[in-house]
Amino acid sequence: MRRWLAAVSITMVSVLGLAACGGGGGSTATGQSPAASGGKQQVEVFSWWTGPGEADGLQAMRKIFEEKNPNYTFFDAAVAGGSGDKAKALLQSKLQASTPPDTFQGHAGAELQGYIKAGNLEDLTSLYDELKLKDAFPAQLVEQISVEGKIYSVPVNIHRSNVLWFNPAVLKDAGVAAAPKTIEEFIAALEKVKAKGKVPLSIGSEWTVTHLMESVLLGSLGTDAYNALFKPGADWNSAEVTKALENFAKILSYAGDPQDDWQPAAKQVADGEAAFNVMGDWAYGYFHNPPEGGLGKTSKTDFDWAPAPGTEGTYLWLSDSFTLPKGAKNRDGALAWLKVAASKEGQDAFNPKKGSIPARKDADQALYTDYLADALKDWSSNKLAGSIQHGVAVNQPWLAAINEAVGLFIGSKDVKALQQGLADAATANAQ
Ligand code: GAL
Repeated sequence: MRRWLAAVSITMVSVLGLAACGGGGGSTATGQSPAASGGKQQVEVFSWWTGPGEADGLQAMRKIFEEKNPNYTFFDAAVAGGSGDKAKALLQSKLQASTPPDTFQGHAGAELQGYIKAGNLEDLTSLYDELKLKDAFPAQLVEQISVEGKIYSVPVNIHRSNVLWFNPAVLKDAGVAAAPKTIEEFIAALEKVKAKGKVPLSIGSEWTVTHLMESVLLGSLGTDAYNALFKPGADWNSAEVTKALENFAKILSYAGDPQDDWQPAAKQVADGEAAFNVMGDWAYGYFHNPPEGGLGKTSKTDFDWAPAPGTEGTYLWLSDSFTLPKGAKNRDGALAWLKVAASKEGQDAFNPKKGSIPARKDADQALYTDYLADALKDWSSNKLAGSIQHGVAVNQPWLAAINEAVGLFIGSKDVKALQQGLADAATANAQ
């Protein structure tokens, strides 16, 4: 399932418009490598966790980093935009210019393998030996961040992509008795909500449409056929894929006005404007975290969850992981950050806020309540499938081609052209 290609090419135009957010304060927010300040050396940590909900997790881990490392200051080089669509383009230009951040967030799986194959990352095997991390993380996760026995990142969490978020009151009002379990039930429920004049399905920016598509592919095809799509010789032109994409088109036809990003789309559900939203479980952090960082909503009343229709028993997973880029200005500072990210303490501070479960197997389970308790249970018992949009199943060039096909589809609604676009994307990028 791995296709390791060179870096994504990007236009400087798209990059120059971007700047690091420095959202955590105390930094210059220029996106340039920060200089030392006040005798303390800065550690530039690159992610896209600036928005409500997800920034909370980063800040919780930052706090521990600063307590443990009084000689370093944390430079928050996060670039706004869910799923990193803007951040990853800027990162690519920084890597190409050999001015990497000290550490950056990269998804375990094909995305990370791309950075490894391009020679962007340092081998972290000695850190793994020092901290005994091979025993701390699930073996199949370590495999996703390794090449030829060398390990290249520190995973901080496991996220679930295939979550159906819904507003219980809106469903009740529309006469939908329970969360739909199949694609057919989902379409019937969407129709009922539409008849009541509410938004049946909320949607955000373009990447959230690809995010929806991966859950519909999984729910329509089943786990084995979904996973087979990323193996050599996969048949993206099959009648089963056609049917899955027809389902996707039908479901998407119930979407409301596209919102700016995933947060405003998720908020429509929590506010009772929309019935359903398919989004990763970072939405849980956003719904649940107290106001300021999150919406402070009440679980099971303002929002509820179920596996995306047709996907029960499968964890469509992804994992955020931190790296040590070659040429990092503050290598020691980056290693200090990686140690916190790898630690039980760091992961148990980060994940309850982020809406994810820890990558470490020895985390304090008592901290993972409510949605997160369900997630822990499912992670230990479900089948696995890799996310498309979030770096597990396809590398960045392949994802760019998929996003392009989906972007065209949003305008054309042409299922045949979408299927051809996806088949071409696979042919061009699969190995
Ligand atoms: C994913 C990332 C998550 C979350 C989400 C929305 O790609 O893995 O941690 O940030 O994007 O921005």
